[in-house]
Amino acid sequence: GTKSGCGGGGCGACTVMVSRYQPASKTIVHYSANACLLPVCQLHGAAITTVEGIGSSKTRIHPVQERIAKAHGSQCGFCTPGMVMSMYTLLRNKPQPTMEDIMLALGGNLCRCTGYRPIVDGCRTFCAEANCCQANGGANCCLNGGENANESEQEKPQLFDQEKFLPLDPTQELIFPPELILMADASNPQTLTFHGERMTWVSPTTLEELVQLKAKHPKAPLVMGNTNIGPDMKFKGVLHPLIISPIRVKELFEVSEGPDGVWVGAGCSLAELHSLLEKRIPGLPEEKTELFRALIQQLGNLGSQQIRNVASLGGNVVSAYPNSDLNPVLAAGSCVVRVVSGGKREIPLNQEFFAGFGKTILKPEDVVVSVFIPFSRKGEFIRALRQAPRKEVSFATVTTGMRVRFSEGSRVVEEVSLYFGGMGPTTVCATKTGKAIEGRPWDEETLNQAYDILLEELSLPPSAPGGKVEFRRGLTLSLLFKFYLDVLHKLKEMNVIKEEIPEKLQPLPRDIQPSLQEFQSVPKDQEAHDPVGRPMMHRSAISQATGEAVYCDDIPKTDGELFLVLVTSSRAHAKITGLDVSEALKLPGVFDVITAQDVPGKKTREMFGYEQELFAEGQVYCVGQTVCGVLADTKAHAKRGAAAVKITYEDLPDPIFTIEDAIEKSSYFEPRRVLFKGDVTEALKSADQVYEGKIHMGGQEHFYMETQSMLVVPVGEETEFKVYVSTQWPTLVQEAVAETLDVQSNRVMCHVKRLGGGFGGKVIVTSILASITSVAAWKTNRPVRCVLERGEDMLITGGRHPVLGKYKVGFMNDGKIVAVDYHYYANSGCFVDESVLISEKILLHMDNAYNIPNLRGHSAACRTNLPSNTSFRGFGVPQSLLVVENMVNDVAMALGRPADQIREINMYKGPSVTHYKFEFSPENLRRCWELCKLKSDYSARRHAIDQFNQQSRWKKRGISLIPIKYGIAFAESFLNQAGALVHIYKDGSVLVTHGGTEMGQGVHTKMQQVASRELHIPTSKVFISETCTGTVPNTCPSAASFGTDANGMAVKDACEILYRRLEPIRLKNPKGSWESWVKRSTSNSAASGKDHYIDWEKMEGQPYSYYTFGVCCSEVELDCLTGDYRTLRTDIVMDIGRSINPSVDIGQIEGAFTQGLGLYTLEELKFGPTGILYSRGPSQYKIPAVCDVPLRFNVYLLPDSDNPNAIYSSKGIGEPTLFLGSSVFFAIKDAVAAARSDAGLSGPFSLDSPATPERACLACAMPFNKKVPASEPGSFKPWALNI
Ligand SMILES: Cc1cc2nc3c(=O)[nH]c(=O)nc-3n(C[C@H](O)[C@H](O)[C@H](O)COP(=O)(O)OP(=O)(O)OC[C@H]3O[C@@H](n4cnc5c(N)ncnc54)[C@H](O)[C@@H]3O)c2cc1C
Ligand code: FES
Ligand code: FES
Repeated sequence: GTKSGCGGGGCGACTVMVSRYQPASKTIVHYSANACLLPVCQLHGAAITTVEGIGSSKTRIHPVQERIAKAHGSQCGFCTPGMVMSMYTLLRNKPQPTMEDIMLALGGNLCRCTGYRPIVDGCRTFCAEANCCQANGGANCCLNGGENANESEQEKPQLFDQEKFLPLDPTQELIFPPELILMADASNPQTLTFHGERMTWVSPTTLEELVQLKAKHPKAPLVMGNTNIGPDMKFKGVLHPLIISPIRVKELFEVSEGPDGVWVGAGCSLAELHSLLEKRIPGLPEEKTELFRALIQQLGNLGSQQIRNVASLGGNVVSAYPNSDLNPVLAAGSCVVRVVSGGKREIPLNQEFFAGFGKTILKPEDVVVSVFIPFSRKGEFIRALRQAPRKEVSFATVTTGMRVRFSEGSRVVEEVSLYFGGMGPTTVCATKTGKAIEGRPWDEETLNQAYDILLEELSLPPSAPGGKVEFRRGLTLSLLFKFYLDVLHKLKEMNVIKEEIPEKLQPLPRDIQPSLQEFQSVPKDQEAHDPVGRPMMHRSAISQATGEAVYCDDIPKTDGELFLVLVTSSRAHAKITGLDVSEALKLPGVFDVITAQDVPGKKTREMFGYEQELFAEGQVYCVGQTVCGVLADTKAHAKRGAAAVKITYEDLPDPIFTIEDAIEKSSYFEPRRVLFKGDVTEALKSADQVYEGKIHMGGQEHFYMETQSMLVVPVGEETEFKVYVSTQWPTLVQEAVAETLDVQSNRVMCHVKRLGGGFGGKVIVTSILASITSVAAWKTNRPVRCVLERGEDMLITGGRHPVLGKYKVGFMNDGKIVAVDYHYYANSGCFVDESVLISEKILLHMDNAYNIPNLRGHSAACRTNLPSNTSFRGFGVPQSLLVVENMVNDVAMALGRPADQIREINMYKGPSVTHYKFEFSPENLRRCWELCKLKSDYSARRHAIDQFNQQSRWKKRGISLIPIKYGIAFAESFLNQAGALVHIYKDGSVLVTHGGTEMGQGVHTKMQQVASRELHIPTSKVFISETCTGTVPNTCPSAASFGTDANGMAVKDACEILYRRLEPIRLKNPKGSWESWVKRSTSNSAASGKDHYIDWEKMEGQPYSYYTFGVCCSEVELDCLTGDYRTLRTDIVMDIGRSINPSVDIGQIEGAFTQGLGLYTLEELKFGPTGILYSRGPSQYKIPAVCDVPLRFNVYLLPDSDNPNAIYSSKGIGEPTLFLGSSVFFAIKDAVAAARSDAGLSGPFSLDSPATPERACLACAMPFNKKVPASEPGSFKPWALNI
């Protein structure tokens, strides 16, 4: 059940519960941990509970499993076991948690599908306060001081019914294995030694033995939490032949209190440190606990709960990370470490202690036994402040520990200590700045001088590792300012300062509030068994929550199976001059190496007239291109083999990485497209005003939780192959494998049970990877499995296209836009993939919701030396529309009017026709707009925000209202077809197979609902096992939000035919049961879509079946000093026709919105100057976590909407709302504009996407950032490229 999503402690998919018996106190402790970083040897004597251990669909499911599933918190389900175990562990320790406990427990668990709201709502039902209307999102909650849910509120349909949930009974939980208690109580502890293939693990029991071992093997690391050593060994290939585990040495866990502070054992976990400090605070005078509170503050932000549960205090100090959160606070607080080696020493944790990157002044044989944490003294203030790319569970960009001490009753500084992380290779002390402050009054004048000195003292070279140089330098000043202000308020409170002082800085709000999901009830006369239109749990949610659901890599290993690891290019543009695999072949377990020479059929895949090699032969075009693959008996052996392959290169000149490079060198994939209506050139001449602007939008990594996975099994006769694969398009994989192996498609059977997320990333790329794997299976005649690691997947597979959008817009003084000329450039990477189609779709959507009479767009797919970008939810539309909405925003700013007014003035109205001559009615778009304004209380909040901004200098709020019109279907007719095969078995059970693949979007659930309605039987009689090319051939991809439309019609047709066939029997025996009719009989079909096309010559067409409309309003609060923000509230109104399953559809809306929020405000791909991707895991690439959910998140489905163009009047919804995440981008931009206005700046300004804290903060033009001198572009090599 337990899943692996990243292998480095960053995603939580592998969360398990560790339970340990503590003989001294005779207690059992339970804590959550990331299995991927837990060394098995470290677990001697511990009990591990995994998701399978707590409940099963065969016996009894656990309430946590039930509630997450039934509250619709499981879509693709790949994150679900981890979510369940985080929540389960919390409940084991605290059966009635608070919402804060829940948010903390789930903070380290990533989900790419749901947007977290349903998971949080499911878990909320365990809270004491949840047993009121709040739990189910009742708007009029008693806790909010409103009346208890009134009747009409109760009548509104709900997504789930918590009344029916199993109660949580803590007495029924698994007990700790008594034999482990006996073992711990009885044993006379002895040194444990484990020998592996290449490593030895020793676990001593006494400090003396530990010191001796360390003296004998100074290079051997002491592994505690393994959160530093583990990732080094896994990802950097570091080998430690000997590991010493001091986990059983009791001195390392002792805590003792003296008159001046506490000594805390270096082995204590960070969670233990947090709790022991917290317990001591109430018993001590406030003045003594400044350092304790600063540490607690910092520990709350350090890593996830899972990391804090295992990472040790000593490990953290000794790891000496440059951006360690604890070390600056420990150092500023004058802590001391006690070290043993030969004798005992006490060493102050100060500037001298941190010797360099990952280095301290400790000798290799030193063992840190404990850390002294002193009480603070009277007149002393200590603070920990940090800024990070994501609010929670993220290493800091800059982190600080600051301490100041005043002489009694005075504001004159006696002593100050300022430590920073993130400003160099190690924790640094701003000594000169401190000296300049000491002896002077704590006032503005002193601080103003200090800023200048600090800026000089903590300078960074423009190409410093980590980049963000100007931002980091500015942060040192603004964090010092925050410290200054906080202490100033303390002095005022203590009456030391009498004069008026500037406003106090309040933290950003963080309390999550109940959300609303409004949808329509089914008609009163709808039959009870008919599930269409009713919320219905994802059909596999329970299996996913119990860990029973089988993903590709869960398929048990078969006899003789081999594992394939790809060897990829380390150069972006080079000739391959040599490939030496001899060393790899000598390694244990290595079976063979697969190269281009081994391909029996076609060595390339052709797309849009361009060839893509499966294995690079003569030349490589990007870092990460596959050159060969190593096959071995295990993944570990294959990895070692891959590391031993030697490739030599001769670099070719002028690699192209950025869009600007590509434009300069005219490097494009053809055809480039142009689409226009009206006469843009003339209209621009007649406009009152003309503005030229541009926006650059970064790419996006799919970050499906399940990485690319496939297993190819040769049947052994007649060149037949079974391919088990996680793909959105089994037919394409079938075709690609057949072509590669030079066999007919009828010999290749693709099976897709489910995907742990796809989002467009498992279409083209997967067909290439499956072809490569099939070559290995063909050559060796053995089953071959290939499952990419997260870092490999991110390096190799590409993602959403970064886009540069330029525009020239002509508008009238009344706000009417008369003409726009767009130029779009997409960074496609080195292969064409679907880039040309994506560029086309960009142009098809360049009107968004606006009727602009003269419109022209040029779109080009730029060919660069980066990994090939591919389809991603929205397929170019999120890029196209951001440029459009940014243009509208610029018009508003140029006119000095609110952007919503300009949107409204230009929005389609009445019978309309697009720039490609497609007729449609925008009525529902207008209805969504009005309803969203109403539901979000837009006008009143706009006013309140303006007032807030007038009163607040350092924090600003912003709001935006963004519409979308999204065309549903593939613009190519042949892709809009589907097939279904429905079997009715003699016992009355029904097996449905259709062309759609289940990747969390709930297509199987909806198909089950369709079959149930058409056959007039309950959904329990309908089963969907898998998608298989042997059952339904020639399917279209599950993409373009079209899966339900296409496959739904096919299932409906097939069921109708069968039901008709049963008619004679039914008529003969009208009172008979379904089973009886089926028994009396013993029993195929395809549906086709409408004719879709686009004629690029005539610039007209019917590329879509219909439009899905929506409008979103988001409000943010921005801390202008750091760029941190919170989404305070989001309201989405979507027109999705008549929903087949509101719970699934609302899940898609929230999930896509959250992915969009990540795209536009958070997720940053970082490429180095040689074209290598730096951001290859969740530690460097931040997708939204539970902390990013809007504090109030409401979704309304537009009532009374019909759609004659799709099944049961529904509409496709998988992709459209992704763009609505940009409402947060524009709300941030609105807040930034307010900050700029304080700085005397007005009019349009540029803010690229994602609007990260760095970009938002710099755009605010705060005085601190203005102090930082900008480095001259071109005078240095930046650490990362803006691709
Ligand atoms: C996903 C993730 C997120 C993280 N986020 C943050 C964050 O936000 N902020 C932050 O500051 N840190 C963060 N960390 C880093 C984490 O805090 C450190 O890795 C951790 O504290 C190290 O402790 P450990 O017990 O796991 O060390 P181990 O990996 O077990 O050991 C690390 C090193 O310390 C040495 N060592 C350990 N104990 C002793 C001892 N008693 N005496 C001498 N040497 C010793 C070992 O020899 C080894 O070299 C994160 C780590 C991960 C994996
Ligand atoms: S797999 Fe362990 S945290 Fe991601
Ligand atoms: S359901 Fe959470 S990752 Fe898919």
